[in-house]
Amino acid sequence: MSNSKIFVDACLGKETPYTPVWMMRQAGRYLPEYKAVRAEAGNFLNLCHDPKKAAEVTLQPLDIVGVDAAILFSDILVIPDEMGMDLEFIKGFGPKFNDPIESQEDLDRLIGGEEAASKLTYVYETIKLLRTQLDERDDNIALIGFCGAPWTLATYMIEGQGTKTYNICKKMMYSNPELLHNILHEVTQVVKYYMEKQIESGIDVVQIFDSWAAAIEPGMYDEFSWKYMVEIADYLKSKYPNTPIIMFPKGIPAFIEQGKVYGNFDVFGVDWGTPMALAKEKLGDKYVLQGNMEPCRLYSKEATTECVESIAKTMKDGRHIFNLGHGILPDVPVENAIHFVKECQRASKRD
Ligand code: CP3
Repeated sequence: MSNSKIFVDACLGKETPYTPVWMMRQAGRYLPEYKAVRAEAGNFLNLCHDPKKAAEVTLQPLDIVGVDAAILFSDILVIPDEMGMDLEFIKGFGPKFNDPIESQEDLDRLIGGEEAASKLTYVYETIKLLRTQLDERDDNIALIGFCGAPWTLATYMIEGQGTKTYNICKKMMYSNPELLHNILHEVTQVVKYYMEKQIESGIDVVQIFDSWAAAIEPGMYDEFSWKYMVEIADYLKSKYPNTPIIMFPKGIPAFIEQGKVYGNFDVFGVDWGTPMALAKEKLGDKYVLQGNMEPCRLYSKEATTECVESIAKTMKDGRHIFNLGHGILPDVPVENAIHFVKECQRASKRD
């Protein structure tokens, strides 16, 4: 059934009538309808834990903005939360873990593997609800499930919060790499089961977000992040060869330029700091490319159209999915997001 979905077809490199488009963070605070449901839920985590409401906000951008794929509404940090790290979202501050991992003993106290993944029942319930609702719509919209890359998750688990310098995890990287690898290994195992259960519950496509890839020096990126993402992709491909996988490592142009990208996945997500032409030259033969408009261009319709046309031109004879080069920001006017989506669909139309 999923074969008839334009987004799935594009992920698999098949020709489509136009290049499908979606936006990272498309279900979020720039939509008044999202803010209304979040207010009803009380807070962001309650919303993630409520399958009916989470399904509702997942579908909002389809009708309001016109995107070609839905992304499950959840957060990457539900994984460390269910491993026992007690996640909080503090207004105006962001995510916070009160007892970050400092030692092997701290890691040993956490719940691992399938046991942790089994606790995320609210995510699987949301996916099952969405599967039914999407099938009823009969518009062949695909559902993207997702997870954080082990490295990006580990940065929060070690620092306890977002960070500009990554000094605590980098101290561990250079002075106690064994502990960092043990953390990355544990998280990788949970994520494998988690994504397997997401697929079993009904998602069509997997995206792995390595949002903080750029924090690692290029020569060490494979060792501390990419190889773990590839391990997750290998595991999923061995069991579900027909489910497309998108890898999104943000901010690693040197790794791309040096030809170091490898692995069994379908789509490479290009961030906005990497020229699409470079990604195409280095990766376009092997992978479908997704991306990559600078999200702040959404503040101007002219700047949006200019960029969409330029990307469409670069990717005219290539395999492509339109997206932003990172998430949409909360103060973007909804009409500009609609404009972006329409322009992507127009500029890539094949006759
Ligand atoms: O893309 C989507 O629409 C699906 C939902 C989604 C959310 N988070 C909802 C969310 C997805 C895919 C994520 C992934 C995520 N979460 C990432 C990787 C993607 C990226 O943007 O790089 C990261 C690093 C996180 C961690 C996270 N979650 C942070 C740092 C924050 C706070 C920062 C902020 O924007 O406020 C969140 C909260 C969060 N996750 C919100 C949403 C809609 C905002 C919460 C709110 O409604 O107040």
